[in-house]
Order: sequence, then C-alpha cells, then structure tokens
Amino acid sequence: MKHGLTIALSKGRIYKETLPLLAAAGIEPLDDPEKSRKLILDTNHDDVKLVIIRASDVPTYVQYGAADVGVAGKDVLMEHGGEGLYEPLDLKIARCKLMTAGPVGFVEPKQGRLRIATKFVNCAQRYFAEQGRQVEVIKLYGSMELGPIVGLSDLIVDVVDTGNTLRANGLEPMEHIADISSRLVVNKASMKMKHARVQQLIERFAAAVESE
Ligand code: ATP
Ligand code: PRP
Repeated sequence: MKHGLTIALSKGRIYKETLPLLAAAGIEPLDDPEKSRKLILDTNHDDVKLVIIRASDVPTYVQYGAADVGVAGKDVLMEHGGEGLYEPLDLKIARCKLMTAGPVGFVEPKQGRLRIATKFVNCAQRYFAEQGRQVEVIKLYGSMELGPIVGLSDLIVDVVDTGNTLRANGLEPMEHIADISSRLVVNKASMKMKHARVQQLIERFAAAVESE
C-alpha cells in the first residue's frame, strides 16, 4: 500500500501475543485469522492492513516491502540474515531459547562428523563453525525431535521453552545458542518514506512493552 501501513504477522502465538500491542497502538483487526481463510485482514483503520503469513516468511515480505513492518522471532531473523530490515524493538513476546538437543545421556563421538537435523540451517552451520566443529546439517521443515529417534541425525537445533516436547521424545536440551523473543521489523524504505507513521507505531508498541 502506497500511503497506508501493511503489517505482516503469523498465525498462532505471534498473532495472539501481538494483539495487545496492536490494541495499544489503536489498531483492531476486523477478522480473526484462526476463523477466517482471508490472508489480508482489514482493521478499524481503512489504511492499515494485516497480512497473515508463515512465521518464516515475515522477514521476506518486509525485506521486499510487501509489508512495511512485521513481527518475527529472533530465530527466524537470525536464519534470514536480516538484509533490508531494521529491527528497532524487542517486543519480549514468544520467548524461548535456540538450543542443541539430543538423546538423554548422548556422548559425542571423538571422531566423525555429527549430523544435525534442523530448520535453522544457517544458524546451526554458523554455531558449529564458530566452535570449529565439523557437522553435517540436514534441513527439515518441522518435527525435528524425530531426527535422533529414527537415526536421521545425532542432534537437533530447535527452539525450546518448557522442554516438554524434548522430554516427550526422549531428548534433552544440551547447548544454549541464543535467547529468543519476537522483534518488530521495519522495511528500510518504509522507515524513510512513512517515517511519522512507522515511528508512531514503534513508540506505541514500545510503551505497551514497557508497561507489561
Ligand atoms: P513456520 O510456520 O514458519 O514453520 P512456526 O510454526 O515455527 O513457523 P510458531 O510456532 O508460531 O511458528 O512460532 C513463531 C515464533 O515463536 C518462533 O519463530 C519462535 O521465535 C517462537 N516460538 C516457537 N515455539 C515457541 C515456544 N514453544 N514457546 C515460546 N515461543 C516459541
Ligand atoms: C515449538 C517448537 C518446539 C516446541 C518447544 O513447537 O518447534 O517443538 O515449541 O516448546 P516446549 O519446549 O515448551 O515443548 P510448537 O508448539 O509451536 O508447534 P509447531 O511445531 O507447530 O511450531
């Protein structure tokens, strides 16, 4: 939208946890993405739209200016690389940790390459390379916990919150890679061309985060 504001969000936890921040900025969606099949939601402002997309697509939409701003997990942003984006605000929602995990009691063999199953291929490669460890990273799109159980991989790299998913699958968290929370991201051109609008949103979100 040339003059208005397009905000990219993913369904589920990010949408739910962003709603109060939108409300603080005076923005109310007119539809519920959990009930509607619409991918573009109107709001109480004619010129503010929400686009509902996959969590891992949010940085791409914002990078290319298909959305002016978006909300994305730091894990997703680290994996994307962050080109074309500003990341002005930590929203402190959807908090978890990016970790390695493996079978309970796993002992790393002294020789050979570890196999790592993950959807965070770039993060995993970077993390192990920084430590000078040779690994083979296997790209998955979900259910990473299955990897070590069926012998696809030795370890996984995934986000962990309570640890329940790992435990339920005979795995345990091992190494901490990064603390994760969701961030407000802004397209670089929108930051200039729609400065007042975007700045107002950042300030209202920031005040709401502070008051939490
Ligand atoms: P995609 O649809 O692109 O595969 P996804 O299914 O991982 O994404 P969500 O599960 O909604 O999307 O997660 C969105 C973000 O919330 C993640 O990028 C991460 O930052 C955070 N997150 C994921 N799992 C948890 C969790 N169990 N607890 C808290 N935050 C989480
Ligand atoms: C996420 C993530 C882990 C799990 C970790 O999955 O992929 O599997 O949460 O949380 P825990 O440590 O509290 O168990 P989610 O529940 O979002 O389902 P998803 O696989 O659809 O993303």
